[in-house]
Amino acid sequence: MKFSARAQAITPFLAMEFGKRAAELEAAGRSVVRLNIGEPDFGAPPQVLEAAAEAARGTRLTYTAALGLPQLREAIAGFYQRAHGVRVDPARVVVTAGASAALLLVTAALVDPGDEVLVGDPSYPCNRQFLAGFGADVRLVPTDASTRFQLDEQLVRRHWSPRTRGLMIATPSNPTGTSAPPDQLRAMCGFARERDAWRVVDEIYLDLADGDASGRPAPSVLACDDEAVVINSFSKYFGMTGWRLGWCVVPPDMVPVVERLAQNYYICPSTLAQHAALACFTPEAIAVCEQRRAEFAARRRLVLDGLREAGLSVPVEPDGAFYVYIDVGSTGLDSMRFCERALDEAGVALTPGHDFGSCGAGRHVRLSYAASREQLREGLRRLAQFVAGLGVRGSMAA
Ligand SMILES: Cc1ncc(COP(=O)(O)O)c(C=O)c1O
Repeated sequence: MKFSARAQAITPFLAMEFGKRAAELEAAGRSVVRLNIGEPDFGAPPQVLEAAAEAARGTRLTYTAALGLPQLREAIAGFYQRAHGVRVDPARVVVTAGASAALLLVTAALVDPGDEVLVGDPSYPCNRQFLAGFGADVRLVPTDASTRFQLDEQLVRRHWSPRTRGLMIATPSNPTGTSAPPDQLRAMCGFARERDAWRVVDEIYLDLADGDASGRPAPSVLACDDEAVVINSFSKYFGMTGWRLGWCVVPPDMVPVVERLAQNYYICPSTLAQHAALACFTPEAIAVCEQRRAEFAARRRLVLDGLREAGLSVPVEPDGAFYVYIDVGSTGLDSMRFCERALDEAGVALTPGHDFGSCGAGRHVRLSYAASREQLREGLRRLAQFVAGLGVRGSMAA
């Protein structure tokens, strides 16, 4: 069979490939500490599980509206008001099958073949695959530790061209767990807006970001740019990866456009997941999620300390999500080789930087600390031993 050029251009998602290799090793009786995948180990809050059981018993699980259950759209809008102090009209909230489907709808709605889109490098690979799939000319803009591996206004200005139609930003970022400072986010969005270009901001890790010095939660881009398109999900903060539920907030004139696309692409998001997700916004479920957020912060400390002791450097400390981007340059191994050997020889699954772009990709490895403290301690112990066995002592964290 001949497959489309589009399909053939899609490269494997290495985090998943290393997961497959880890599963093979486990099946052969080896112990593997899986720090490769961005999946919270907690699962959904108990309130959500109860609501799901209730919904499965009592409701005929028919299709919902393509835009999602009206009460869920209202609940999400209410969450923006309570958690981030921004008013969002529920009519602008579109419930989707995970952030992935939100990205699919949004790119289908915004991108024409040949449109240039600026995306930071490194960044989450699937976002740029959606863009490229709809024919965008994805311009990967190299970033480094000096901008916390995020785009900033200067970079956007420098790489902007007359063909640039949009800007895609994820903050906090996967793979680095670092956020774009709010003033930079405002400046970048303002610059693009003045040029009539769209801004898609992936905030899937926003509620797992640190607050500011006075304890205020990290702000949504909607606080500074109410026409930005925002992507979010139940996968990370609410621990519901396998439920396949997310949302986007779009400008009013885009609602009917994404509605038509959703109707045609997948009819509606999972009805059972939508009913269950209503329980996410109860004070009890939010309290559970907030406890987990604190747990992630503790795990981050544990991982940063452990990596330093292992002689591995982390160029920028993360401020959110559950990722650490490690510089393995001092080991003399390319990140792909480092990950292969760490898995085969030490039983630790990580993700090479090559998944996230090409800038610095050979030097960096992503570690996900969405695993229990026990697993993290064991993983760090194995990594320290592995690095020591390589016979080079890495430089201490910069
Ligand atoms: C930055 C980013 N955006 C989107 C997604 C997709 O998430 P979902 O599970 O909601 O489809 C992920 C998943 O890891 C991610 O890291």
